[in-house]
Amino acid sequence: MPKRSGLVVARTRGEARDWYKSQRALGKRIAFAPTMGALHDGHVSLIHIGLGKADVAASSIFVNPTQFAAHEDLATYPRTEDSDLQKLEAAGCAFCYCPSPAEMYPPGDSTRVTVKDLSHILEGEVRPHFFEGVASVVSRLFLHVSPDVAVFGEKDYQQLLVIKRMTQDLGFPIEIVGGPTKREADGLAMSSRNAYLNPEERTQAAAMSKVMFATAAKVEAGELIRAAADTAKADLLAAGFASVDYVEARRADTLAPFGAETCPAGTSGRLLIAARLGKTRLIDNIGFVRR
Ligand code: PAJ
Repeated sequence: MPKRSGLVVARTRGEARDWYKSQRALGKRIAFAPTMGALHDGHVSLIHIGLGKADVAASSIFVNPTQFAAHEDLATYPRTEDSDLQKLEAAGCAFCYCPSPAEMYPPGDSTRVTVKDLSHILEGEVRPHFFEGVASVVSRLFLHVSPDVAVFGEKDYQQLLVIKRMTQDLGFPIEIVGGPTKREADGLAMSSRNAYLNPEERTQAAAMSKVMFATAAKVEAGELIRAAADTAKADLLAAGFASVDYVEARRADTLAPFGAETCPAGTSGRLLIAARLGKTRLIDNIGFVRR
């Protein structure tokens, strides 16, 4: 298996298995942070969290075709493997799994993992097959890499909950850990897709987190949820966003609606937001606790 000075790169499930077995034989616990590459500091922060939870950190780079709809950006998704591997190595990551599509989805492949309910709200309404693609690939990555701990970003909060549900339901002996969202200086959540923004859009994009924090603060203080969300949508459109898919305050544990006009006192919530700026779709979210 090729080894950059400190990083083992595996391209097949057999190579990945050889690596995890070698680590088990040394008594090492493995933390795993899967990615689609085009790595930024948000991804790197997950490696650091993993190293705090286990003995060795592993990652993967795989642009997963089953989580892209036909009209989405599979073909143009940024692919920067060399610099990604350098970043992983610099972060202290010991292993990266970089399989081909055929390695993950062998000829004749016909198995999918579906997490019901959670997969069909919010992001799932706009992207109906997205979470099935995510659950299908993450379950395979879990089997190929066999980690003890897996770290996922809160940036994709609904994805984190889908993975937790799947892990519990299928009985993977893996602890799922969430990592806080890393942001640019102006508050924009780091994302591989931010590279699609032109300079004007990049400036306008800062409005998303500002609107999100302001809206969460209102809901947290007991303001009417619907009114706060309507103001947020208007503010995003005024800031240059082309359209808003949703601004929603939901229960933090299930993403169910609160079922009341205001968030009940003492409950933990999540403010989730998705909007389009030019051709780019941005999402963000933040937690809050109603006082
Ligand atoms: P990707 O978008 O590359 O993200 C990989 C991991 O990095 C995810 O857990 C994501 O939530 C986390 N992440 C992204 N931006 C972050 C930020 N600003 N701060 C902290 N963490 C951040 O999410 C995926 O890939 C895929 O769906 C995957 C899980 C790999 C399955 O294909």
